[in-house]
Amino acid sequence: MNTLVPVITIDGPTASGKGTVAHRVASKLGWGVLDSGALYRLTALAVLQHDVDPSDAHAVAKVAHTLQVEFHPNGVLLANQEVSALIRQEHVGNLASRLAPNPLLREALLARQRAFRAGAGLVADGRDMGTIVFQDANLKIFLVADVLARAQRRCKQLIDKGISANLEDLLADMRERDARDVERAVAPLVPAQDAHVVDSSNLTIEQTVQTILDLWSRV
Ligand code: DC
Repeated sequence: MNTLVPVITIDGPTASGKGTVAHRVASKLGWGVLDSGALYRLTALAVLQHDVDPSDAHAVAKVAHTLQVEFHPNGVLLANQEVSALIRQEHVGNLASRLAPNPLLREALLARQRAFRAGAGLVADGRDMGTIVFQDANLKIFLVADVLARAQRRCKQLIDKGISANLEDLLADMRERDARDVERAVAPLVPAQDAHVVDSSNLTIEQTVQTILDLWSRV
């Protein structure tokens, strides 16, 4: 791991806007991005495609070890198949969240995530970027937004993509996923001690990005 490459971590619950914010912060700084959730989603998709038992911790970790992934500016390939839309499906995200407590899986993904620390800098988005994967990050953000605001955002995103969505169902799913992410014993979703908590419930994406850039300019 090249610890000289600066890292900003952005952790937070599902649909808090981390992904969009991470990409915009990275593009302003000319840095790369790690969407660590995508690695969990890719594992979940591969588990489904290969009919692996999700409760078999070793088998799931093996899937993660052998994932054949290529990230491109416009998408992501899994075993040479373009899967950007497939991994965004709600059932894939839900399975990712159910697989995520598996310590063998988390261990399997650790080196892959740290390998993204290259080039001018890295903005890493996830749940445990600041607490586990990049403990020495130069700036740690914990991005929160209330669950209704997040469910509404997710609902709009899905409808904009032509996917049918129901706010009540999304809200229930999101509460369940939040509880699983926060309560799990391994790498739970908690702010690092040295993280700045940013509440984006009433901020636009631009304001959230600016808040983070302001914090970075003071590091
Ligand atoms: O950020 P996301 O919704 O794409 O992540 C999907 C799931 O992957 C999430 O519910 C929990 C898991 N995850 C994790 O455990 N650790 C990370 N660093 C990123 C995601």
